[in-house]
Amino acid sequence: MARVFITGDTHCPSDIHKLNSEFFPQGKTLTKDDIVIICGDAGFVWDGSKNDKWWIDWISNKPWTTVYCDGNHEGHDLLNAYPVINFHGAKAHKITDSLFHILRGEILEINNKKYFFFGGGFSHDIEYRKEFVSWWQNELPVQSEINNAVNNLNKVNNKVDFIITHDVPTQINATLGYNHQDMSKYDNKYVNLASFLQNIYETVTFSKWFAGHYHINQMVDRIQILYQYIAEVKNDNFEFLDTPIYKISNLHFTFDEVKNIAKKHFLFINEFLQLGRATLNGRAVINFSDFLKQYEDTLSLEEKNLLSDNLKNFLLADMKRFGYVTKIVKDIENKK
Ligand SMILES: [Fe+2]
Repeated sequence: MARVFITGDTHCPSDIHKLNSEFFPQGKTLTKDDIVIICGDAGFVWDGSKNDKWWIDWISNKPWTTVYCDGNHEGHDLLNAYPVINFHGAKAHKITDSLFHILRGEILEINNKKYFFFGGGFSHDIEYRKEFVSWWQNELPVQSEINNAVNNLNKVNNKVDFIITHDVPTQINATLGYNHQDMSKYDNKYVNLASFLQNIYETVTFSKWFAGHYHINQMVDRIQILYQYIAEVKNDNFEFLDTPIYKISNLHFTFDEVKNIAKKHFLFINEFLQLGRATLNGRAVINFSDFLKQYEDTLSLEEKNLLSDNLKNFLLADMKRFGYVTKIVKDIENKK
């Protein structure tokens, strides 16, 4: 039986590290029958540059097959130029023999389970982007894509096992603080994606729904939003892989542990109680041991907890930057 994994935005190359062999060691044991799904903002097809090609080759040379729904941050026009083929019953753009983009509204079947895909996403950062360079209106769906979804869902009596999207229904957007989707920036032919997904949420029966876009690993109502975690499908459910990123994300450091780690690895601290290497992006920093000499007795419980979170963020950022499990993390793991 094929194994199926699902993860969040890879924004190739900036968040692709979660799929390298160091952070996804399970990947080494897979075959081309096994599938890794990315919930949009995959970023492999962006501007057609050498960089695109390098990363398309990189992911295609992995032991598994990668599929994704599109996010908002994709080179939509280039993506749409790829040939459309049938992949496990779904229409898909074939980028290579091992990399497929599933079209909006398609249902693919793996191990007798149905996966409904609907890509696209509202950009929350349009003001920083340029149309046809880093922003495309077709990040939102048109009516024919909605119709495709409705037709395909009708064929399966509005019942699927899994739903894969980039963006989320209106209700989930609101929970996350995005109360309004401004359609005025889009031509009339584009449809409000969040409203459509809300419709799906209310009318389609499903076991699990996975989304990306928000750069968090969090279950919101009935939707599992993914970023750096990798979930493995198990029957109608899923389990998170115990990857180094997952492990670190779920640690809490006691104040003594923060002290020992920071001391041993000569960490510095800035005025926001962020821990890191000497520069911390040029902010005024001080050696952590010196900081403690001065302020240890005045730190509140909240500040101590913040130190734990900030140490965690530093370790995650460090692993992302280097692309491997750093010495500090190994050190921490050996002690646990
Ligand atoms: Fe994203």
